[in-house]
Amino acid sequence: MPLRMRTPADYQEQYARSISDPEGFWSDMALHFFWRKPHHTTLEWNFEKPSIKWYQGAQLNISENCLDRHLKDKSDQTAILWVPNDPGEDSVSISYAELHQRVCTCASALIDLGIGKGDRVVLYMPMVPELAVAVLACARIGAIHSVVFAGFSAQALADRVDDAQASMIICSDYSRRGAKIIPIKAVVDDAMELSCDSVQHVIVHAHTGGDISWHDHDHRWSELMQRASRTCEATVMESEDPLFILYTSGSTGKPKGVVHSTAGYMVYAAYSFTNVFQYDPGDIYWCTADIGWITGHTYIIYGPLLAGATTMMYEGVPTYPDAGRFWQICEQHRVSQFYTAPTAIRALMVHGHHFPEQYDLSALKVIGTVGEPINEEAWHWYNQYIGRHRAPIVDTWWQTETGGIMITSLPGITDTKPTYAAYPLPGIRPVLVSPEGDLIEENEKEGLLCIDYPWPSMIRTTYGDHERCRQTYFSAFSGKYFTGDGARRDADGRIRVIGRVDDVINVSGHRLGTAEIENAINEQSSVIESAVVAYPHDIKGQGICAFVICDIDRPDLSSDVCLTVRKIIGPVATPDRIYIVSSLPKTRSGKIMRRILRKIACGESDGIGDTSTLLNPECVDLIIRQVEKEDMQ
Ligand code: WTA
Repeated sequence: MPLRMRTPADYQEQYARSISDPEGFWSDMALHFFWRKPHHTTLEWNFEKPSIKWYQGAQLNISENCLDRHLKDKSDQTAILWVPNDPGEDSVSISYAELHQRVCTCASALIDLGIGKGDRVVLYMPMVPELAVAVLACARIGAIHSVVFAGFSAQALADRVDDAQASMIICSDYSRRGAKIIPIKAVVDDAMELSCDSVQHVIVHAHTGGDISWHDHDHRWSELMQRASRTCEATVMESEDPLFILYTSGSTGKPKGVVHSTAGYMVYAAYSFTNVFQYDPGDIYWCTADIGWITGHTYIIYGPLLAGATTMMYEGVPTYPDAGRFWQICEQHRVSQFYTAPTAIRALMVHGHHFPEQYDLSALKVIGTVGEPINEEAWHWYNQYIGRHRAPIVDTWWQTETGGIMITSLPGITDTKPTYAAYPLPGIRPVLVSPEGDLIEENEKEGLLCIDYPWPSMIRTTYGDHERCRQTYFSAFSGKYFTGDGARRDADGRIRVIGRVDDVINVSGHRLGTAEIENAINEQSSVIESAVVAYPHDIKGQGICAFVICDIDRPDLSSDVCLTVRKIIGPVATPDRIYIVSSLPKTRSGKIMRRILRKIACGESDGIGDTSTLLNPECVDLIIRQVEKEDMQ
C-alpha cells in the first residue's frame, strides 16, 4: 500500500483497511522506511497498564531515515531553509548532504563528551539550524533529547533538567525575537545555580556572539565541532527505545515528561506529514511553530525530513518588522504549505488584510492550523486572505501525547468545514463518551473525546512516573485513551474539538496548567492563596485570570504577582487579569469553586446559580462587584 493517499477513494480504502486489519496496515506502512532489522510483531498492547509496543523486533535509527536514506537521490536538495529574524539578512539553505555531515559531526562531539545511548540531553535554544542539528545528533547516538522552549524561565528549565536527570544542556548565547535580543545562556547559568546537579557539560552555540559569562563546565559549540570527527555511525536502536521527552502541562502543578519511542513515532510522523500536507518534490514547506513544542518536533524536523522535504525554519516573530512578515516570507520563498496557529492568525487579522494583500501567495497549496480551536471569523479570514479560496485549510487536531496529527481534513481529498478538524486519519479511532463512560454513537452530540485503539506515535509513558501516565490518560475510561478534550460530532460525522475539559488552559496555543500558575503565584511572599481560571481572549484564544488573596494591601501587588510568574514559569504564563480579593468561594470541604470564578471571569455572573451550599456564599457578590468595578476602570 502506498504511504500517500491522493483521492477520496484512497482515504476510504486506507481507513477501512486500518480498521479491519490495523496490524497489516501499519506493517505495510513500515515498508517505506529503512530498517537495520525488520519487526516480527506489529503491535502488542494493553491500555490498562498501559503497555504499548509497536514494531517489536525491529532495529533502526531515525536519523538514518531522515538523512542517510536521502543521500543517494537528494544530497543537493535543500533540507532546511533557514530564514533569519532580520529581513535584511540572507536566508541559509542547508542541503541533505550538508545536514547529514553537520549532524554526524555534532553526534561525534557529543560522544567525545561521554554522551551515549539513553543519556538525556536538554536543548534550550532559539530557532536556529543548530537546534535541528542537535536534535538529530542526539537521535543518531540514541541520546534522549528534551527540548525546552527557550521562553521558559531558569526555574522551569531547572525543573525539567532535574526531572529528566539530564547530563548535558545545549544552548545558544542569545536569541533574537523581532527587535529584542534575549539572553539564553544567562538563563542556563541561573538554572545551574538553582539545581541541575546531573549536568556535567553545557555546550554553548554563539548565535549573536554577545557577551556571556563562562564556567568550567561550558564548551564552545564551534570548537567542539572543529575537533570532532565528521563521520558518525548511527547507533542501532530497538523499536521501543525512547526517542525524546517533551514536557507538557497537565492538571497538576508539575509538568510531565511525555515520552515518545523510536519506530512508531517515525512511521506516524512521516505518514501524517505526507498525507496532511500532500507534499510534492520541489515544494517549500513552512511550519511556524517553535521546536520547543511538539508541533516543531514532528512537523518541522522529523516528519518533513523523513519525507525528504524542504522544511523552512523561521527565527523571528510574525510582526517584525511589520504584520506582513509571514506573507513576505511566503512570497519570497514561494512557500507551498504553510502551517501556523490560530492565535497567530488572530493577531495578524487585527492589523488588517492590506498586509497579506500586498504579497503574491499563489504558491500556497495547503494552509494549516494547529494548537487550539479556530474560531469561525479567523477561519474565514485565513481562507479568504491567505488561502484565497484556493488553498484548502487543514484544521489539525492533536496533542503532545499523540505525537502526530490525529483528526484533520485532507487537502483536495476530504471536505473542509469551518471550525471542524473533521475526519480521523487512517488508523485513528476517535470516540465520544459521556462523563459516565457511555459511548455516544449518535451524531450531532457532544462528548468527551477518547481514542479507542493504539496508534504508532502515541505516548508510551511519563518520564520517571509511569503511574501518572496511567492515571492521566488511561484510567478515566477503561480501555480508552482519554484526551482531556470535549468534542462534537456533526450530522456527517465530522469532529469539532471544543476545548479542554480539565484544568489546562490554552494560551496562544501554549498549554499551561492552572495549578502550575497558582503554584507560581503562591511563591510571591505576600500571597496567601490564589485561583486561576481561563476566559475567552480575542487574540490568545484563552486568557489567564487570577484571583489572589494577599496578607497586605499594596497598589503594586498585581505587578509583583506577574513578575513572580514570569520568573518561575516564563512570560507565556503571565496573568492577563489579576484581582486581589479577600476570600475565594469554597465548598464546605474547603475546595475552591473554580467553576464560579470561571463564570465571573467570563462575564457570566448571572449564570452562577445557587451558592447557598458554599462555605462562604457572601464572597461571591463581593468578588463580582470588585471585578465589575475594576473592569470599568
Ligand atoms: C488543543 C499541540 C482544537 C486541544 C499539537 C489539545 C486543538 C491541546 C487543536 C494539545 C485543534 C490542538 N482544534 N483544539 N485543531 N489542536 N488543540 O499538547 O485542547 O500543545 O488537547 O499539542 O491543544 O496541545 P499540545
